[in-house]
Amino acid sequence: MPKNPKIFPITITNPVVEDYCLSHSFKIPKELMEIESYTKKNILAHRMLSNHIQAHFLITLSYLMRPKKVLEIGTFTGYSAICLAQGLTNDGKIISIEKHPEFVSIAQNFFEKYNYKNIQVIHSDGLEFVKQHKDLYDLIYLDADKERYKEYLIHLLPLLEEKGVMIIDNTLWKGLVTEAAKEPVTRKIQEFNEFLKTLENQIFYSLMPIRDGITLILKK
Ligand SMILES: C[S@@+](CC[C@H](N)C(=O)[O-])C[C@H]1O[C@@H](n2cnc3c(N)ncnc32)[C@H](O)[C@@H]1O
Repeated sequence: MPKNPKIFPITITNPVVEDYCLSHSFKIPKELMEIESYTKKNILAHRMLSNHIQAHFLITLSYLMRPKKVLEIGTFTGYSAICLAQGLTNDGKIISIEKHPEFVSIAQNFFEKYNYKNIQVIHSDGLEFVKQHKDLYDLIYLDADKERYKEYLIHLLPLLEEKGVMIIDNTLWKGLVTEAAKEPVTRKIQEFNEFLKTLENQIFYSLMPIRDGITLILKK
């Protein structure tokens, strides 16, 4: 158990309501159930995994957008990349960046096992990759390195196509962003959330209370 439940509350959403939503929505694909089960059994930091509500959100958005070029920062065991791959165009491609070699190889094995040839994992620091990158994307999912979200956004916005969409996870940070920050990550996420206000001429943005907070950005 965490020492300070205030810093690590289990959830800011209502699990009963979430369960009801899930029991009235499409079934999570089998490969995602298997990755979830593997991750929970074998990876100590399994809490980093997206949950079913997020999976629904990512899969639905992918089907709505039918993206051709997707960039993900923070592959972990490959769960969210497979969610985002559901609505990809036939010639679409996902590039997913992961810093830790152990996760790179676990995700690669899953992509091979489930025949997701359209997902490529790159072993790199996300920010270093983004700073040197020039390609444009329809959809970008930022789910790593929370302290540097603002820096990522500065470098990622130019990589987003006009009318492209960016998803940023954990922007409510267990609800702690609503209080005076007691530790650096909360402060950094608060700064990021405030920073978005300065970009109103470039983006539409919405912070939604989905799991740990998801910000959705549409480039004008
Ligand atoms: C919250 S997990 C991602 C979860 C995944 N998107 C999912 O939903 O299943 C964050 C991942 O980002 C990776 N990571 C952390 N810092 C990073 C960095 N600077 N560059 C790239 N990846 C990083 C971590 O190793 C971890 O696998």
